[in-house]
Amino acid sequence: MGVNDIYIRDIFMTVGFILLGLIIVHYIVKWKWCKLVGIIYRSHLLCFEAECAYLSAPHKKYLFAPLNDARSNDEILQYEKCIRVVEIGVRTGENIQYYPDGTHFVGVDLNRRLKEYLTRSDRAWQFSHITIEKLIIGDGSSLKGIPNDCVDAVVTVRSLCSTSSIRSTLDEIQRVLAPGGKYFFLEHVPDKPGTLIRYIQRFLTKTRIWPSLYGDCRLDSNPINEIETTKFKDVIWKPITLCGYVSQPYKLYLTRNHIMGTATK
Ligand SMILES: C[S@@+](CC[C@H](N)C(=O)[O-])C[C@H]1O[C@@H](n2cnc3c(N)ncnc32)[C@H](O)[C@@H]1O
Repeated sequence: MGVNDIYIRDIFMTVGFILLGLIIVHYIVKWKWCKLVGIIYRSHLLCFEAECAYLSAPHKKYLFAPLNDARSNDEILQYEKCIRVVEIGVRTGENIQYYPDGTHFVGVDLNRRLKEYLTRSDRAWQFSHITIEKLIIGDGSSLKGIPNDCVDAVVTVRSLCSTSSIRSTLDEIQRVLAPGGKYFFLEHVPDKPGTLIRYIQRFLTKTRIWPSLYGDCRLDSNPINEIETTKFKDVIWKPITLCGYVSQPYKLYLTRNHIMGTATK
């Protein structure tokens, strides 16, 4: 082997080692980043979203009150004097307290540990007034496991913004609701056009900074037009603003405006 060959071999080996090193560093950073994002999102759900649930409690009490007088379309449930409710984006089951005793509950969420949480955690007793009929681990825009026309109410609270398609989610909600069934929503919407907050919401969403940290949540989506153009008979809604103490006020500034209402099939 001549001097030139040794020289070329050394160059190849050095470049090879550098490439291998870069690939290993890339995978380690990616792996750690995914873990870090998981930790950030989890603490967001357990802290900030819990604070929002507290601030929105009076509004939700009002919103969900009609569930207590609802009559199921299902003959057996009618006989048992209970209803079937589907909730998309259950988180820690904060809305279950508003569902009437005996409610047949179907939860849809991306969280693989939802069943464990609702049935075996130290909070499971808080859900003992309902019957958990089914838990679907998946995206809210596909309710494949639920037949047509069999649900008395569907609920989304601050979760439509995270589904992969708002349009498909609403079409699915319309499909599974029984005639006369109601869709209850409380969803955050962007600030008025032209405001600084609106600009920040758009920027954080378009750059994917916010969605990548917080479960694909899009700060700039306003589902009201889509709700009004889905084949619902009756859409009644009003704007509400959440205010009060939270530990991370900037998050509340970005998600304080809401639409709250019902749509009837
Ligand atoms: C902001 S929290 C919803 C808050 C909750 N509804 C409440 O009232 O406290 C978002 C929830 O939606 C779930 N989620 C996120 N993306 C989803 C998707 N594409 N389909 C269904 N659930 C989703 C998350 O796992 C989380 O439980």
